[in-house]
Formats: sequence, C-alpha cells, structure tokens
Amino acid sequence: MKFFVRTYGCQMNVADSNEMGRHLKDRGLALTENPDEASIMLVNTCTVRHHAEERAFSEIGRLKKWKAQVPGRKIVLTGCAAERTKQHIEDRFPYIDLVVGAKSIVEFPSMVEELINRRATDDELDYAVPASGDTISSFVTIMRGCNYSCTYCIVPSVRGREIYQPIDTILGEVRDRVREGVREITLLGQTVNSYHDSSRNGGNRGRDTDFSDLLEAVAAVDGIQRIRFMSPHPYYMTSRVIESMARVQQVCESLHLPVQSGSTSMLKKMARNYSRDEYIRLIERLRTAMPEMTISTDIIVGFPGETEADFQQTLSLIEEAQFDWGFIFKYSQRDGTPAADLPCFPTELIEERHQECLAVSDRIALRKRSNLAGSLQEILVEDDSFGRNRGNYKVHITGNVRPGETVMARITDAERPTLEGSVE
Ligand code: 5AD
Ligand code: SF4
Repeated sequence: MKFFVRTYGCQMNVADSNEMGRHLKDRGLALTENPDEASIMLVNTCTVRHHAEERAFSEIGRLKKWKAQVPGRKIVLTGCAAERTKQHIEDRFPYIDLVVGAKSIVEFPSMVEELINRRATDDELDYAVPASGDTISSFVTIMRGCNYSCTYCIVPSVRGREIYQPIDTILGEVRDRVREGVREITLLGQTVNSYHDSSRNGGNRGRDTDFSDLLEAVAAVDGIQRIRFMSPHPYYMTSRVIESMARVQQVCESLHLPVQSGSTSMLKKMARNYSRDEYIRLIERLRTAMPEMTISTDIIVGFPGETEADFQQTLSLIEEAQFDWGFIFKYSQRDGTPAADLPCFPTELIEERHQECLAVSDRIALRKRSNLAGSLQEILVEDDSFGRNRGNYKVHITGNVRPGETVMARITDAERPTLEGSVE
C-alpha cells in the first residue's frame, strides 16, 4: 500500500506531514510521489489566510474523482483548516474518510491505525526512513500551539495552548535523525524561543530548561553540523538566547524574525508585545553579536486601521532593518480572531500597499544578496545540485557534489533568490 502527501502552509505543517509519514511507514506503507499509485491521500491543510484554506478545499474537491477511480482509496484530511472547519467538512465533503485536526496530530497513529485496518508486527516498528526531502536537513517540533493572541491570527484557536516537548524527547529525536544521516536540524514551534521544560529543572540550578539551554544541548549531540530554528517571537529573543546563538558554533547565522508592521500603533493593535524601537534595537543587538547574520521577516499590510503614515513606517522599517528577504502578506480577515469584527480596507488599497511593500523588500533583498557575488560560501548539499549556506540562501551548485556533503562554493550569480555557485 502506498500513500501520497500534499502539504499546504508553514514549516510546522511540513514537519507534521513528515511525522505522519513516518507513522505510516512504521506501519509498512510506502511514500509515493505519484497520486495515481497511492491508496491513501493525506491532505495537510492551512487556514492562516483565507486563500490558503481555499486552495486546500479545491484540492479536496478534485480528490472526489481520484477516490472514485479505484475502490478502497482513502482520503485523510489533517491540519489547521481541518481543525477549524471540522463540523462542516462532513457535509461539504462526505467522501473524506478521516479528519485529524491540528490539535489531534499526536493521536494520528491510533486514528489512522483503524483506517489502515492492519496490525503492525514488531519487525515493522524499526526506525522509519524520513519522508522525502528531510534526509539531510530535518525539522524537529519542540512545541505545539501558541499562547499569544495576535489579533489577526487564527493559529491559537486551531492549534491551542502551548505544549512543550520534554528536552529528553527532543534530544532523542535529534539523535535518531542524525543516525539516519541528517546533518542539519531546524527546531520548530509557533513561538519557538518561548520554549521551556520544567522536568529537568533540578539539573539547571533550580530553574526551568529554556530555549538557550536547548540550543546548547542539541549542539552537544554528536554529528550535528547545523542548527536553525523557526519562528522566534521578538519578545523572547533574550540576551541569553542571543549569547547562546553567538557562542554555539552549530547555530547558523540566520534568523527569521517576524515583525508584522513597522508602526508602533499597529503593533499595539495587533497585540505583538513590542514596539518599533524595541524591534530595531533587537536587530542591532543581533547584528552586533553576529555580524554575518541574515535576517528575514513577515509583514502584514492592510491590517484594519492602518493609515498611510503607519504604512510608511513599515516601509521605512524595512529600509532600517535591511532585511535579507521578507514575506509580505495581504491582511486576511479570519473568523474567530479578535480583529474579525474590525472594518476591512477595500481590496484595491491592500493590493496597492502589497505591491509597494514587495518592491521595497525585493529591492533590498537583491542588494543584500548581490554582496555575496564572488564570495566563497560553506554549502551543505541537500540533493544532487542544491544546498544552503549558513545564512540560509539556497544555492544551485555546479560541480560534482553528493547529498550530505559540505563543500566550499564560489557564488557566481546572485541575481535571483536562488544563488548560483560552483565548487572550488
Ligand atoms: N492575514 C495575513 N497574514 C497573516 N499571517 C498570520 N495571520 C494572517 C492574517 N490573518 C501571517 C503573519 C505570520 C505568517 C505566518 O502569516 O505574517 O507571521
Ligand atoms: Fe499567530 Fe501571533 Fe501566535 Fe504567531 S505569535 S502564531 S502570529 S498568535
């Protein structure tokens, strides 16, 4: 029996898909890249913006035909849109066989067991091979949920309150991955740096294990070459965390630090818990501690009440922070969020601000990566011809390289977001 996985949304969803894929492999199923070969179709959905949810739902609409083509085919719907719309899914898509909401991911193995209708034997419970795409660089989920309530965001309601993995579980998972050949770990969580674990506080002079301890502990695992994490919240970017990042050689000089807006009054309305100045000061501290660091961000344009002056503040923050790249999102109203009742701007205005913001962000991104042209970069090769430098730029490599290898490559072209490099 084979299964196919379609994943929408963020890295957290990719990690969840990989985790579910591992469980299916534990039970003797094989991953396929071809939906025609599959008897189980797993659709892992996202609901963060209206558009993301619609894309997943239209895919599910198309799957009705896929299911009818071969008797016994099954559709499993998981993730955030599944969690949010559970009640309506059965009415709208009666042919779906199993719904596992984002809050129930840990119950996936038992829920799917019944669906597969097959008991695993002991010899099938060997280590699973990681799902494709995470054999060299892999995600490890260290916490689930979010205790913030940023007013635009539906994540806290679909993923629930924060739950932290015990540090020993995380380290066990990291060791397993390294044994399977993984060289780079990305620690994942909605506000990843708010991580703490009280189960080990005896070992830490009476205080909880925090994110900074975790970075040091992961780095101590034999064979770990690179550590990244995603996504930190600016509020928890403490001096302790910055010091650990700078001290621990394996922690890469690259940080995705969502700012959302450059206007303090918008940040207040979004309930982000920091001001423009605090964010800028944080960037300065990071760049002082790690001058080589690339910093990227998320920005939302057109949040209710955003004046032209607020918007200009966002543009000037992008200039000031000199982000290496940015993801610019049009505000999308989500039912059930604190901002859902606020009056929205016309789509044309949001569209206009989106274009303008993209132009500024892309211009700076191009200038920043142009500085890399001609430089020598340490690349961890992830597949036959692509890898990443420590700053997290994707690099297409010319030359003979093997996945898992670390090579030095000269950047020959930095015009496009994926750089060109050749092995020296
Ligand atoms: N509308 C637009 N963008 C959003 N994001 C989260 N919620 C919304 C929304 N309602 C963006 C934020 C977040 C990223 C993952 O998605 O910028 O950092
Ligand atoms: Fe959403 Fe804010 Fe939590 Fe991020 S920190 S998941 S934006 S509520």
